[in-house]
Amino acid sequence: MSADVDQRAAALAPEPEDPLPKPRDQASRLGVLVVGAGDMGVRHAQHWQAVGAHVVAVVDPELDRAEAAAARFGAEAGTAPEPFLADPAVDVVSVCTPTYLHAGYSVRALDAGKHVLCEKPAALTLRDALAMRDAAERSGKALRIGFMRRFDPAYRTLMAYAERAGRPLLAQATITAGVRPKRLMHDALANGGPIIDMCCHVFNLWDAMFGGEPSTVSARGYTFSDDKPEVAGIAQRALDSALIMLEYEGGSVGQIQVSWGLPAGIEPVERHTYVGPAGLVTVDWNRHITLRDASGVTRWRTQGIDPWRAEIEQFSRELTEGAPREVPDIADGIAALRVSLAVLEAIRERRVTVPAEVADLESLPAEDSDNQEVHA
Ligand SMILES: NC(=O)c1ccc[n+]([C@@H]2O[C@H](COP(=O)([O-])OP(=O)(O)OC[C@H]3O[C@@H](n4cnc5c(N)ncnc54)[C@H](O)[C@@H]3O)[C@@H](O)[C@H]2O)c1
Repeated sequence: MSADVDQRAAALAPEPEDPLPKPRDQASRLGVLVVGAGDMGVRHAQHWQAVGAHVVAVVDPELDRAEAAAARFGAEAGTAPEPFLADPAVDVVSVCTPTYLHAGYSVRALDAGKHVLCEKPAALTLRDALAMRDAAERSGKALRIGFMRRFDPAYRTLMAYAERAGRPLLAQATITAGVRPKRLMHDALANGGPIIDMCCHVFNLWDAMFGGEPSTVSARGYTFSDDKPEVAGIAQRALDSALIMLEYEGGSVGQIQVSWGLPAGIEPVERHTYVGPAGLVTVDWNRHITLRDASGVTRWRTQGIDPWRAEIEQFSRELTEGAPREVPDIADGIAALRVSLAVLEAIRERRVTVPAEVADLESLPAEDSDNQEVHA
């Protein structure tokens, strides 16, 4: 990279992160309860501890998982949150369970007077997501949704570059992977499949980039994993593949090609391309961003900043220092879910749908599509 290109990249790159906050004294430390001791639960606990909070307890119905995680953080372990929700030492609850359980735990925590950081997506149904919003309003406590990509340096740089490419912007994301190792990720009634579980990240990014949710949605959906043994026996298997087209106010459009139905073990890919009147931005996710415009080529490589850490550090500042809100909240969660549901409706009914008008699906798409499009 030439010095000139380096300078241009430096001018566009986000500010370096502030150093981590110093651990607070015992009395003012946030106390955290982590619900769900899987990958995300352990990650949340790690980052809460790293930003100076006290992990009070980790709970999971599988006690051995809760105990193993709790031992790493000097926390208590349990199979249910109730005793810890009554503990005044707990200020915040990190909800890191399968998605269909997010609303139940979030509402109970909010009603117990705790702040909540709930993993994304907010919920599988609007009914659940709206119940979460109502509980947050009722309690006056903070409810944030873990769209941690908003804290990813790649995303922050992409936002700056995409602004320079001009409007309207033609956005394209390709997200492909083999059948996921966690079966719940393919279960329409558990984590909801990639249109809910994965695309919510892109919907949330694009809502921020385009200043609101899409006005219309069209899509076709498939189950590429029909003949794959890894997902056999899931009663209501989610669609695992789709081509999605979103139209935003102002003429920008986005297209997502997504699949979690490729042969297991295949290398995952995530690439974004943004084309505007003034240039072209490409992102090889979390690795390289390239801007091509009239003044040449700028390449930028992401720094090793963990977006979950940055998200939790920011939420901690919001709670302890009154920092302005940056972590996405339940309104962001509802907006992304509306788009996911509009995509599922567009696939099921083979028509253009409107996220602002979407309702919960009566029933989710049938899974026995035999690699065919799912019809109404
Ligand atoms: N931000 C991201 O990019 C990202 C990445 C991965 C997962 N997630 C989300 O995080 C959530 C958890 O995913 P994960 O990968 O950690 O899953 P995981 O399977 O690793 O962990 C889930 C944990 O929840 C526990 N659990 C199951 N039923 C429970 C119940 N009734 N009460 C409490 N705990 C229960 C399980 O025993 C398990 O330990 C999902 O909603 C997923 O979509 C977000």
